[in-house]
Amino acid sequence: MYAQLVETGTRAVKSLDEMDPQERAFQERINAGIKIEPKDWMPEAYRKTLVRQISQHAHSEYVGMLPEGNWISRAPSLKRKAILMAKVQDEAGHALYLYSAVETLGVTRDGVYRDLLAGKAKYSSIFNYPTLTWADIGAIGWLVDGSAIVNQIPICRCSFGPYARAMVRVCKEESFHQRQGYDIMLALARGTPEQKRMAQDSLNRWWWPSLAMHGPADEQSVNSAQSMAWKIKQHTNDELRQKFIDQTVPQAEFLGLSIPDPLLKWNEVRGHYDFGPIDWEDFFRVVKGQGPCNRERLAARNRAWEEGAWFRDALIAHVDKHRAQDKAA
Ligand code: 3HC
Repeated sequence: MYAQLVETGTRAVKSLDEMDPQERAFQERINAGIKIEPKDWMPEAYRKTLVRQISQHAHSEYVGMLPEGNWISRAPSLKRKAILMAKVQDEAGHALYLYSAVETLGVTRDGVYRDLLAGKAKYSSIFNYPTLTWADIGAIGWLVDGSAIVNQIPICRCSFGPYARAMVRVCKEESFHQRQGYDIMLALARGTPEQKRMAQDSLNRWWWPSLAMHGPADEQSVNSAQSMAWKIKQHTNDELRQKFIDQTVPQAEFLGLSIPDPLLKWNEVRGHYDFGPIDWEDFFRVVKGQGPCNRERLAARNRAWEEGAWFRDALIAHVDKHRAQDKAA
């Protein structure tokens, strides 16, 4: 598939003999599976690609707290509330690991964060949908974190050391996120008919956005070919989407819920599920900021930034005071 990517409309990838000696030596390190560390020489385009992907990943974690945070005060039991609080707290931690990883590339956390607040930076499309019922908290854990695990495990083998290492811890926590979501869906699917209907409605609303979150179809994925050559990405968007579908359909069957895709069918020859067309118009509309909750998400993040100004100022004043005391001592 990767070779095919290089041929399609994606950005062309240089072959080794087209590279100058320094770039060739860099690519040969990557091909040999040697991690690139922040102090190593790297092509500016490699650095830029990492800043783009890691900052968007961090923003996704940070904005991703909002849809679920909305249900902490309305969780149906103390146990579910405690689990959800732990999960949302984890997402904040994931954002911090990733902002720390992106800072090793010569950008500041403030700088990339201000791009997010100004609406200039992307974050995952999936967080621009509303969480209308408690079942959505289950569907997010099961489907969104499930997709995230499929996407993030290969990044543990990414060529850039800080990103790969951040992902190891993130992936361990994601498996708890996915399990608690599936547990919510299981409780609802085995509950009253009304609860089962709520679970089915949630699956209907989250299934297709969870497929799209893996990124555009390979032919439209402008970054994949180069990101795979640099081993930032190990698989194409379509490969990971297919892996997610293949592992999730049996889980839906176990729940007794039906996937909202009349064309979904096991293909013996391919050894995968065939599935219906994704609404890429809707996906790119959301990516461009016209999704159901884009404005609300950005407003919430800007409000938190403004309301937190006093705390940041106090921290800086505290540090400055102690620095002055140390200097005077
Ligand atoms: N939402 C928003 N934008 C998206 C997107 C999505 N789901 N998928 C792709 N895009 C954007 C890309 O950023 C790119 O735009 P850009 O060049 O301006 O950045 C454009 O669409 C073309 O897509 P490509 O496939 O060429 O882009 P990539 O090669 O970067 O692949 C990706 C996209 C698969 C998302 C890749 O960036 C990636 O693996 N990122 C790391 C994982 C990540 O960010 N996951 C987001 C969810 S985090 C999460 O789920 C947390 C969990 O705790 C819930």
